Amino acid sequence: MKIQLGCIAGDGIGPEIIREARKVLDKTAARFGHEIVYDDLLLGGASIDAHGVPLTEETITRAKDADAVLMGSIGGDANTSPWYKLSPDKRPEAGLLGIRKALGLFANLRPAFLYDALKEACPLKQSAADTGFDLIIVRELTGGLYFGERHTREENGQRIATDTLVYSEAEIRRIAVKAFEIARVRRKLVTSVDKANVLDSSRLWRAVTEEVAKDYPDVTLQHMLVDNCAMQLVANPAQFDVVLTENMFGDILSDEASMITGSIGMLPSASLNETKFGLYEPSHGSAPDIAGQDKANPLATILSAAMLLRYSFDLQEEADAIEAAVVKTLAEGYRTADIASGAEGERVVGCTAMGDAVANNTGGKSNEQ
Ligand code: IPM
Ligand code: MG
Repeated sequence: MKIQLGCIAGDGIGPEIIREARKVLDKTAARFGHEIVYDDLLLGGASIDAHGVPLTEETITRAKDADAVLMGSIGGDANTSPWYKLSPDKRPEAGLLGIRKALGLFANLRPAFLYDALKEACPLKQSAADTGFDLIIVRELTGGLYFGERHTREENGQRIATDTLVYSEAEIRRIAVKAFEIARVRRKLVTSVDKANVLDSSRLWRAVTEEVAKDYPDVTLQHMLVDNCAMQLVANPAQFDVVLTENMFGDILSDEASMITGSIGMLPSASLNETKFGLYEPSHGSAPDIAGQDKANPLATILSAAMLLRYSFDLQEEADAIEAAVVKTLAEGYRTADIASGAEGERVVGCTAMGDAVANNTGGKSNEQ
């Protein structure tokens, strides 16, 4: 298969983690007889430096022309980077939100899974770590507070800021359908997370998810308030299968879910539209404090590449090969600093060596051979 990928290295650790993910992808492609062609695209700070804006029409057009997009991370240090002297709509994050919206990527899937090898790095109680967990957050990505009207005005010498949380029935329905479809091929439980004891948007969310549930009699739907969910995630994560939620709650809960896997450096993500097209990126940010030092954990990006093969190209065996290579690499003791626990047998390595180890474990021939 010939695979045409848009590739956004981005800012901070982005270029390093993307380099390792491409290494693993190329090795896997060679093993299974596929050809991957990359089109390097600018977004975020890198785009500001080149064009003065975080997202250009050209990046949107070329991303749309690709079969899927692989992304590293965008953004810089808000205290020191000149990007943050720009108005909010010109900053790196605005580019990411813009491309999500322009490509219609309403469904953000963030699977959180505790690897056996990382139980030591899991910050939860031993009993919870021993039980393990395997959940997926299905986060609405193009609505809610992120895209509602916002402004700051001055009244009687006081600044007043407003953000609005808007959801239409149609927006809720399409993300709920995604969650139920995913639950159907997993453990058949959807936990819909909202704040229906306070917010109108959450009451509509609850009503619409219940309507959608009628089409999925084989899947159980339960509702949970977001504050309770934040607590349950650290108390008993094994209870969750598919967690369906709106944009802002999903942003917060997915960072929490990533940390209980041992590190935020482990959580991949897929952002999908109605078609097979998707943008795949780690759930973590650009970590400018460790950029360029070969310290970043490339596993979330490598696992995002596996999701790309699985969701956009139906290449299940190839995706399995990458995920198995990650498991094998962790079992061999390889750890970047963020997932090292100090246990015996660990080999603490940098970003490049971690990428090399996973690439070697995919079972393909190396490019140099
Ligand atoms: C994420 C990130 C983004 C978000 C930021 C960088 C705008 O935190 O992908 O979770 O809030 O969606
Ligand atoms: Mg986030």
